[in-house]
Amino acid sequence: MCSTIYYFSATGNSLSIALQIAKGLGNCAIQSMVAELPDEPVGGPDNPIGFVFPVFYNGLPRLVKRFVEKLVIFPKTYCFAITNSGGTRANPLGMLEDILSEKGIRLSYADEIRMPGNYIVGHEVPSSEKAQKILDAAAGKVDKAARAIAGGERKPVIKKAELWSEITNRNFLYKNIDEWDKKFVTTSICTGCGLCAEVCPVDNIKIIERHPVWQHSCERCLACIHWCPCEAIEYGKKTIGRRRYRNPNIKAEDIKKGLTCENI
Ligand SMILES: Cc1cc2nc3c(=O)[nH]c(=O)nc-3n(C[C@H](O)[C@H](O)[C@H](O)COP(=O)(O)O)c2cc1C
Ligand code: SF4
Ligand code: SF4
Repeated sequence: MCSTIYYFSATGNSLSIALQIAKGLGNCAIQSMVAELPDEPVGGPDNPIGFVFPVFYNGLPRLVKRFVEKLVIFPKTYCFAITNSGGTRANPLGMLEDILSEKGIRLSYADEIRMPGNYIVGHEVPSSEKAQKILDAAAGKVDKAARAIAGGERKPVIKKAELWSEITNRNFLYKNIDEWDKKFVTTSICTGCGLCAEVCPVDNIKIIERHPVWQHSCERCLACIHWCPCEAIEYGKKTIGRRRYRNPNIKAEDIKKGLTCENI
């Protein structure tokens, strides 16, 4: 039995969950959804596949939606999904299930985990002490999910708040796509190190004359603002004075390269 987990992560929460599940399962590969799509069908009776990703505006990040829509999955594959967020009660797993249903696949195991929220443009992120408490609580839940998945248990999706989730996801994530990143600015403490460009999953930042320039095709993942080592990026005035968040178990290097492991 060999499993594969496809994940997307901006500030490391989803990647840390993916790694923990992979360790719990054993003989498991993890692959970033930012990387190229597999060129062959995936899954099969002895090859479970999983999806681990953050909630964006009560639903799926666009990048996750695109990836899963294009992925070709063998019938009768045991599919699992673990979503994580600052604590939403919305329908991202139902949205994923809808995409998979079109391929004749149902999620065998679906779960959601509360992680430290990183939506700095909307609110302050938790202090490092509070974040650690949330991470400690999450670790137990992730272990439990890994054991259940390893045992082939079933936990189907329970759809909830479908209309509200659909509307908020569409309204926030899909409107003004080419305008949204115009509010990113850098302060004079920017050193031109280029890390913001390297962690961007879609190459939406170019470093020109030692300064980041956003290219107006942003996924809104907020990796750039959180990983900048100098806290030199602001989103308009909203983020001034707010702390940044990065999962303490994940390094910038892992996000830059879209960490891919063949066997954990
Ligand atoms: C654009 C965006 C939208 C978000 N929307 C929600 C949301 O609707 N509800 C919520 O609880 N958390 C929301 N979050 C917080 C993330 O889901 C959460 O912090 C997640 O753990 C981040 O995962 P990552 O570290 O793997 O990127 C949002 C974050 C971003 C960047
Ligand atoms: S990561 Fe920060 S300091 Fe480095 S180039 Fe980007 S904005 Fe400037
Ligand atoms: S520009 Fe920043 S917020 Fe937009 S996709 Fe790239 S890293 Fe994410």
